Formats: sequence, structure tokens, C-alpha cells
Amino acid sequence: MKFADRLDNVETSAIRELFKLLGKPGIISFAGGFPDSAMFDVDGLKAASTKALSDEPGAALQYGATEGYNPLREQLSAFMGSKGVDVSPEGLIVTTGSQQALDLLGKTLISPGDKVIVEAPTFLATIQCFRLYGAHLIGAPVDASGVDTDKLEQLIVEHKPKFVYLIPTFGNPSGATLSLERRRKVIEMAVKYQTLIVEDDPYGDLYFGEAPPPSLLALAKSVPGASDLIAHCGSLSKVLSPGLRVGWMIAPAELLAKATMCKQFSDAHTSTFAQATAAQYLNAGRMPATLANVRKVYAERARTMSDALRRELGDAISFTQPGGGLFVWARLTGQGGSVADGNAFAKRAIEKGVAFVPGAPFYCSQPDIATLRLSFATADLSKIEEGIARLASAL
Ligand SMILES: Cc1ncc(COP(=O)(O)O)c(C=O)c1O
Repeated sequence: MKFADRLDNVETSAIRELFKLLGKPGIISFAGGFPDSAMFDVDGLKAASTKALSDEPGAALQYGATEGYNPLREQLSAFMGSKGVDVSPEGLIVTTGSQQALDLLGKTLISPGDKVIVEAPTFLATIQCFRLYGAHLIGAPVDASGVDTDKLEQLIVEHKPKFVYLIPTFGNPSGATLSLERRRKVIEMAVKYQTLIVEDDPYGDLYFGEAPPPSLLALAKSVPGASDLIAHCGSLSKVLSPGLRVGWMIAPAELLAKATMCKQFSDAHTSTFAQATAAQYLNAGRMPATLANVRKVYAERARTMSDALRRELGDAISFTQPGGGLFVWARLTGQGGSVADGNAFAKRAIEKGVAFVPGAPFYCSQPDIATLRLSFATADLSKIEEGIARLASAL
């Protein structure tokens, strides 16, 4: 069969190949990028979906507006307001997960050959999605305080990108959070170079101790002209349920209108039943307790994994203990002759009954093959201890 030329730009991810091995019985997996199903607020969602069907069956089961179901847009506007973002319900659209927001941004903004700056490393699906639209991706390095803003500025000046894509808070896979100082620099750069910044923020609410700095969009309101240069993607996936497929996008009006047009031709609208359920859930006021619960459980798992890594792998590995999100991003040091290639280590680890994702595929170019991503989200504390002990035995 002759497929579209655009498919030449992408390939199935190497990570998928690894996932095929995960079916082995007894494997402890730190490979997934998803929340723990055991943490879903099933009672709350049951009540919300029942209320959606009894209060508004017509709306919940009928076709709906492409922009989203108004009661949900109102709830999301209030939710963003609680995080310092002033956005009216009309200033956001509901998307089918934030993944669709990224796809709509790719569709509306990227022509083949356009340059887009992303973090190195960044979310794999974004790399694939933007490449599908023909983007030429340029990687900006990331350290424990997020993207290196000096390097980012050089790259903006050199490449004049169509836009810059960042995951500033508890990044996937880096776990890194952009410092307040760097956030201010990113916003200044957006204005100085008139460059659109896409802020992907599915993890910002998942903090373990201190709250992270405000989002770029929240900070932008104090800098004249900056809010018009930020597109912000949010999601209920990591805190409530990814199966709902409820995300949202806030963007300058012109861009939001084009994205909405593209969504019309794509899925017409996000499931009205899912939207009505999410609206009822938020309206019932359950979110603060849900957030408190996920933060507490994941914080404990992150701490347990970090302690176990330090204890069991010692100086064979280096990492920064995550302050939120779902991931530990680590680097093999090769100290004492231990393995220093993430891919080779992943294969050896599976032999020992533990899985993680090697870091190389998360780079759009020049991968650091010594890196790896470990998710602490889905295993309980004893499985985390056992899994890290197995990991040490694979060094
Ligand atoms: C950085 C990032 N953006 C977006 C998504 C997509 O999430 P969803 O489409 O479920 O909202 C994910 C999910 O893993 C992610 O890690």
C-alpha cells in the first residue's frame, strides 16, 4: 500500500518494542507513563456520571459544540483561576486529552520544514506528532531547573522557530521543574523575539511538598503582550482519569479559533458524556480531596524509589529526587565498570524481572544513551523496593 509521504517522518517508538516484553509473568514495571488505576476516585466518578445522565441526559448523550460543553468550560475556567490564570470559559476549548491539543497545535502551526524547539529530552508523543506535520525539531538542553534558558535564547536567535514547546513543571520524562527565574526569562524571550511558547502542563498539580512556581501563562499576565504568546495545554488525565480523555487548551483567540476549526474535522467534539461527567465531578467539589490523595500517595512512592535507588545503586546512577509528577529521570554513570547504556541495561533488567524505559527515544536528536526513566506511580512501596533491588542486580 502507498502511504502518505508524511509517514516517512515517523516510526513506531522503540519503547513499544520494549513493552512487548512486559507481558512476562512477575515483571515489576516502572515503564508506564500513567497513573495508578487503584487511585481512581471510582465512587466520585460513579456519582458524577449518574448525575450527568439524570440531570442532563440530552446534553450528555447528544452531539455537542466543538469548543466543549459549557458547564465544563466554566468549571475549567474556575480551576485555572484557582491557579492564577484568568481565563473566561470562552477563552478555552475542551480537547480529547491534552494529546489532542498538541495535535491541533501541530496541525494549525506546522508546515513541512518549519523549525520547532523542544526540550531535550521531551515527551515522545509530541516528537512523533510534530514530526508527522513535517517539523524540523531542535533540542534545547534541560537540567534539574528545567530548560537551559541561555541555550534556548541562542537557539531562538539562530533558528527563528515557529514555536517553542516546553513542559515546564515535572516534565516527562525529565521530572524537572523550570525555576521561577527561568520562567521569567522564557516569558521575556517570548516577547522580545515574538515567539509563541506552547506550555504543556499535565503534571503541575501533582506536587509533593511545596507547590511549583506559577505556570508560564499565570506569570505572563504581568508582562505586557506576553499572554498573547502562550498556548497552554491542561489535562485531567494524571490527577483524575486518563480514560475520560478530558484536556483543554488556552491560546490567543486567533489560534484557538483555527484549532477549533481543525477539531471540527477531526473528532467534532470531545465525548459529551465524558465532559458532562467531568463537569459534575468538578462541580461536586471533589477535586481538592482527590489532589491531596494523589499527591500524598505518589510522594511516598517517589521518596521510596529515590531512597532505594541511592541505597541499592549508589554511585552507579545519578538523579534528582522529583518534587512532583510521575517520574525519576536518571543517568547511568558507568562507575566501577557498571553498565552505562540505558538500552542494554533495560534488556538486562527485564531478564531480572524489572522494566523501565531507556531515555534515548525522548531526544529529538543526539540522544544521551546513559539516561533512563523510571515511573514510581503504579507500583506499591514493597514492589518499588523489590524492583529497585532487581535493578541493582542487573548493573
Ligand atoms: C507531557 C505530556 N503531555 C501530554 C500528555 C497527554 O496526556 P492526555 O492526552 O492524557 O491528556 C502526556 C501523557 O503522558 C504527557 O506526559
